[in-house]
Amino acid sequence: METLKTMLVRHSCRSYTDAQITDEELNTLLTAAVSAPIGRALYENMHLTVIQDPAFLDKWTRVLRETANDPAANPLYGGKTWIVVSSLAETGEIAFANSACMVENMCLAATDLGLGHVYIYGMIRMLEHNPDFAKELGIPEGFRPISGIVVGYEKEPQTQERPVSLDRVATNYIR
Ligand SMILES: Cc1cc2nc3c(=O)[nH]c(=O)nc-3n(C[C@H](O)[C@H](O)[C@H](O)COP(=O)(O)O)c2cc1C
Repeated sequence: METLKTMLVRHSCRSYTDAQITDEELNTLLTAAVSAPIGRALYENMHLTVIQDPAFLDKWTRVLRETANDPAANPLYGGKTWIVVSSLAETGEIAFANSACMVENMCLAATDLGLGHVYIYGMIRMLEHNPDFAKELGIPEGFRPISGIVVGYEKEPQTQERPVSLDRVATNYIR
């Protein structure tokens, strides 16, 4: 797919079928993630965790519901693959910029593959201080989970480009 078209078709999906993505699709998403630009090319400061174990997804959805005191919360929207991006904690704010580059690359790759996806940030912020979360993610010592993506097959695929207007974001010109 042409890059700009992919950007215009990209949208968040919050309703997935029960089917799991293929390993080939997963590897394409991971290739997109590791192709992202990272400050000073310090790729060793980043870590990816691929979660497809239904028990893990169920457990942390339940913990999130308790933490948020919201029994109806469905933070992973029934997606069967959750990819969490973690960063070496001591890198500070750039961890968020680096992770965003990796996540957005995966969002665009998912769109290109015809997969649904949604950026996952709020849930990770709520769970990041739960010591069991980092432990069960299996991330290296000194790393913190930053953000992630849920990906899967959309219940209602949307393949149309969405119109966007330049006045969506205020812009001033100095020229
Ligand atoms: C940094 C960031 C964090 C986000 N966190 C969440 C999230 O935790 N849960 C969620 O459902 N969507 C999340 N989103 C998705 C946004 O709500 C969504 O991109 C926005 O509403 C625009 O809709 P669109 O993606 O369909 O264009 C996040 C997006 C970004 C860029």
